[in-house]
Amino acid sequence: MNMFRVKSVEQSITDTEAPEHRLKKDLTALDLTVFGIGVIVGTGIFVLTGRVAREAAGPAVALSFVVAAIVCALAALCYAEFASTVPVAGSAYTFSFATMGEFPAWIIGWDLILEMMLGAAVVAVGWSGYLTSLLSSLGIPLPATLAGEDPVFNLPAAVIVLGLTAVLIAGIKLSSRLNLAVVAIKVTVILLVIVAGLFFVKGENYTPFIPPAKPTPAVEGLSAPLIQVLFGITPVAFGVVGIFSAAAIVFFAYIGFDVVATAAEETRRPQRDLPIGIIASLVVCAVLYVAVSLVVVGMQPYSRLSEAAPLADAFTAVGQTWAATLISIGALAGLTTVVMILMLGQSRVMFAMCRDGLLPRGLARVHPRYGTPYRITIMLGALVAVLAGLVPLAEIAELVNIGTLFAFVVVSIAVVVLRRTRPDLPRSFRTPLVPVVPILSVLACIYLMLNLPVETWIRFVAWMLLGVVIYIGYGYRHSRLARQPLKMR
Ligand code: ALA
Repeated sequence: MNMFRVKSVEQSITDTEAPEHRLKKDLTALDLTVFGIGVIVGTGIFVLTGRVAREAAGPAVALSFVVAAIVCALAALCYAEFASTVPVAGSAYTFSFATMGEFPAWIIGWDLILEMMLGAAVVAVGWSGYLTSLLSSLGIPLPATLAGEDPVFNLPAAVIVLGLTAVLIAGIKLSSRLNLAVVAIKVTVILLVIVAGLFFVKGENYTPFIPPAKPTPAVEGLSAPLIQVLFGITPVAFGVVGIFSAAAIVFFAYIGFDVVATAAEETRRPQRDLPIGIIASLVVCAVLYVAVSLVVVGMQPYSRLSEAAPLADAFTAVGQTWAATLISIGALAGLTTVVMILMLGQSRVMFAMCRDGLLPRGLARVHPRYGTPYRITIMLGALVAVLAGLVPLAEIAELVNIGTLFAFVVVSIAVVVLRRTRPDLPRSFRTPLVPVVPILSVLACIYLMLNLPVETWIRFVAWMLLGVVIYIGYGYRHSRLARQPLKMR
């Protein structure tokens, strides 16, 4: 079995030049940063902040955002080195192919598809929720069977997914222009929250900044975090420990900087621009998140923040309904690009997998006029639309976190591996302090993964096993590497 055959970095780069698989190279460092912000700022800051402050961290939720940012920064440094060395669509999938071999690469690609497909569906459902509440506040209620809390088919969610699919097919530049406009709106709204909110901050809401720890209501069985089942460590809310468990949840707010790496092949000067795009978008978002969460917990006692729309509702609570409406519009716009770019990333990962023959190669054909992988985009768009329309996704959202963290672990390990196996490659960006930074990154991600519920782990493992079956049944035999003289290392 040659499941660990490695695809050389050079071969990956050569593949990007085949005319029928060539993507348009249109993006700059600024486009990438804006792309990053477009996909990062979403449900995490607009929704999770309130729930986490109430249930897990209190005003110290701002510190949880700092902790999660540090975990992500460690991984981002690893992603940046890889993206600058192997500027090929597919992100962690391609990186793993170049270091650990075909089977691990397949596993990670399969994992990324899970992350982005479910992520896009979850955020589309959130978008539909915001739309429904905004429309009903304008006196235009949507029928309960098609939208709202528990619809039979979530129509707005499916429609937004299909609309964005069309944009993605029409071209990366159009997608990135739309993204630029939307990011401008959502960053303005976030800045509005910070600046306008400051006037309503009351010092007493900050004390105690770290509320005293208390045990959480007993969670047993499949909903218990794995760390509890394995080591008997029961989760604690609030206190210093609470800051860390809350970080495992707000981690979701940062997901997306890794997606920047999937656009590698569409970047004009990837060696320089990808590290800038990845790191800059993460830093900008971290600063915004910490500021927003500090302001919001200053506006209301943390126990009174709302769960569904904490930013908007904090303004309603101080009598500023105009701001609340603006924030809802901003959130609606903001969630749009999160969905769009998650689908973009997903299509690029699958594109790379099809091009390598691990999935049917015909799917990877690029549209002659638009220069986008349209077949994959249509297929995935339809799938995400059905998922978003039919499946109640709230609880499987945690699968997105586990999938992403797993990819971070693999990329961090792969950086160290590639330094050993290919010290000669030009690396325009180098992760500092290798192997310390990658090791810390692996440990931090595993810690956050352990904080996720057992049922999430079971679903994750089930998805992965399905992936193994498909690989053995199809990918292993159809792999292009299988038919070429191998470069084994
Ligand atoms: N980071 C993205 C969000 O918060 C996934 O919606």
